[in-house]
Amino acid sequence: MVSKNLLAALTLSLTSVNAIYPIHIKNYRFIKPASSDNDVSENEIFFMNGIDYQPGGSSGYDPDSTNDVLSDPDICARDAFAFQQLGINTVRIYTLNPDVNHDECMTILNDAGIYVVLDVNSGNDGENLNRADPSGSYNSQYLTRVFKFIEAFKNYPNVLGFISGNEVINDEEDYAEIDPAYVRAVQRDMKQYIAKNADRPIPVGYAAANQVDLRLATFKYLQCNSLDGKTVNSDLDTSRSDFFGLNTYDWCSGQSDWTTSGYDKLNSTFSDAVIPLVFSEYGCNANSPRTFDEVTEGLYGGLVNLFSGGLVYEYAQEANNYGLVQIDDDDNSISYLEDFTNLQDKIKDISLPSTKESQVAGRSIYKCDANAIKKIYSNFGTSNFTIPKQPADISKMIKNGLNATNVGSILSDYTPPSTLKYNVKDTDGNDVSATLSYDPSNTLNNVKLAATSSVISNVTFSNTTSKSSSSISKSSGISSSKSKSTGKSSKVIKSASKSVSNSTKLSKGDATNLKFNNNGSFFFMVVTALFALII
Ligand SMILES: *[C@@H]1O[C@H](CO)[C@@H](O)[C@H](O)[C@H]1NC(C)=O
Ligand SMILES: *[C@@H]1O[C@H](CO)[C@@H](O)[C@H](O)[C@H]1NC(C)=O
Ligand SMILES: *[C@@H]1O[C@H](CO)[C@@H](O)[C@H](O)[C@H]1NC(C)=O
Ligand SMILES: *[C@@H]1O[C@H](CO)[C@@H](O)[C@H](O)[C@H]1NC(C)=O
Ligand SMILES: *[C@@H]1O[C@H](CO)[C@@H](O)[C@H](O)[C@H]1NC(C)=O
Ligand SMILES: *[C@@H]1O[C@H](CO)[C@@H](O)[C@H](O)[C@H]1NC(C)=O
Ligand SMILES: *[C@@H]1O[C@H](CO)[C@@H](O)[C@H](O)[C@H]1NC(C)=O
Repeated sequence: MVSKNLLAALTLSLTSVNAIYPIHIKNYRFIKPASSDNDVSENEIFFMNGIDYQPGGSSGYDPDSTNDVLSDPDICARDAFAFQQLGINTVRIYTLNPDVNHDECMTILNDAGIYVVLDVNSGNDGENLNRADPSGSYNSQYLTRVFKFIEAFKNYPNVLGFISGNEVINDEEDYAEIDPAYVRAVQRDMKQYIAKNADRPIPVGYAAANQVDLRLATFKYLQCNSLDGKTVNSDLDTSRSDFFGLNTYDWCSGQSDWTTSGYDKLNSTFSDAVIPLVFSEYGCNANSPRTFDEVTEGLYGGLVNLFSGGLVYEYAQEANNYGLVQIDDDDNSISYLEDFTNLQDKIKDISLPSTKESQVAGRSIYKCDANAIKKIYSNFGTSNFTIPKQPADISKMIKNGLNATNVGSILSDYTPPSTLKYNVKDTDGNDVSATLSYDPSNTLNNVKLAATSSVISNVTFSNTTSKSSSSISKSSGISSSKSKSTGKSSKVIKSASKSVSNSTKLSKGDATNLKFNNNGSFFFMVVTALFALII
């Protein structure tokens, strides 16, 4: 086995700039371009290291207001400063208004080095899939809002992904029976809309509830894209989740460990993932303040070869006591809480493997297996994997685009603030001298998008691919770990890339795959030779 340290040593010498290039997906990994060339030989896997951001709480959203949590640049600058102090790279935001202008805030976040993961729904009627009435609420009014949302955010390079639904499928009532197919329907519509109307394949994921059996059934249902396990089914591929988020609070500070938290089971039962896995919410607060041992020992420790990081719940202190900062509503100052500094300390101690995009298996195929799913959760609604039909006017909307009036973009004629209008206080109540810094490389966003492809959509594989592609194993992430013999492992890889290229139909925009396929074997030989030298 190639050790993690060795990997780090290898890739350190090839370190690239920090730019906020758009993230894409390959198999179970997020990929961050290393340069504007978006060159698979340089690109590396990306870990989400973030928090959930919903100041004002879940009821803080007013659809009739001209404000939302990304509309006030002074607030956004204040919080971007706190994000930088914390050391995170991503925030998840639950509710935003697609009619509000977000350009200043998104430019601040982008330039400050922060990606966003955005839920496209709100809690208001007609603005989500109603889990009690999925067929009634899956209608063109709802989908129009979702498409408007995509329009509002599709052009920001720091949008890491959209979340199609949060815990829609849960263990109450008959929701696990009636909702799954509709979650897929919404994802299909979103992904079709993005394919037609955005210039990159922005990932679309789902955030799942944590009931142990249900979460596994949901995962198997939402990641599958093949009826026979060999051939990609285009409908199932389009409707599947590009990434899977888990809201989990099972590791409690001072009382849980790898086993009692159930992280060991996550590590084993999700090990066949072919889409990225993240914690879309985490941070049990049974004991307060939280010490966040699960950060270094769990998510970025024992789970690091399987999961791609996650998001601590949550930024602002509310009645439920999950906050990292206290916001003073009178003067808009923020005060760091002990949870903030504790998390900050753990984040400093995270050590991540560096793995190249080219070392991640290309093939992402998973069988839709109703029996396997029902064996885990008997009431899970798999029917026959038929996805509900689109409402009549939707395909036209997808084809033509919405002609939306509020299409956001990064501002080039705007200087984000470096000093803050509002005060930031440390845990002792003393003012923090706050200067926001913007790494110039963060503004380098113009990646060669044509090469950004690896969210596999509309790709069909012939059955000949199935033989070779498992040669890159998950736990290692590294091709050569299978064998110390250079010749042997490079051969395995060669045949993998060859057989894919031989039998893969690529849709337009799949230039990365094309390049990978054509030049893959040569590249792999170089990489493998490099490893051989080090070993
Ligand atoms: C997690 O699973 C991987 C792959 O199965 C394994 O190599 C690793 O040891 C597991 N982690 C722990 C902490 O058990
Ligand atoms: C799948 O289920 C749907 C809805 O229950 C039904 O209309 C359709 O005929 C089924 N398809 C097959 C191939 O069984
Ligand atoms: C798009 O919207 C603009 C302005 O709202 C309008 O002038 C134009 O006719 C619309 N185009 C289509 C194709 O609907
Ligand atoms: C997917 O591929 C099929 C067959 O090649 C083609 O007919 C269809 O238009 C493609 N769909 C999209 C969204 O590109
Ligand atoms: C592979 O596909 C061919 C036809 O394209 C078919 O004859 C053969 O049975 C398939 N093999 C497997 C293992 O599915
Ligand atoms: C695969 O490619 C080889 C040549 O590289 C060709 O001879 C063979 O027919 C191809 N197979 C398929 C299934 O396209
Ligand atoms: C493959 O590599 C060669 C030489 O490095 C290059 O000229 C060619 O453009 C590459 N092909 C693709 C598809 O990238």
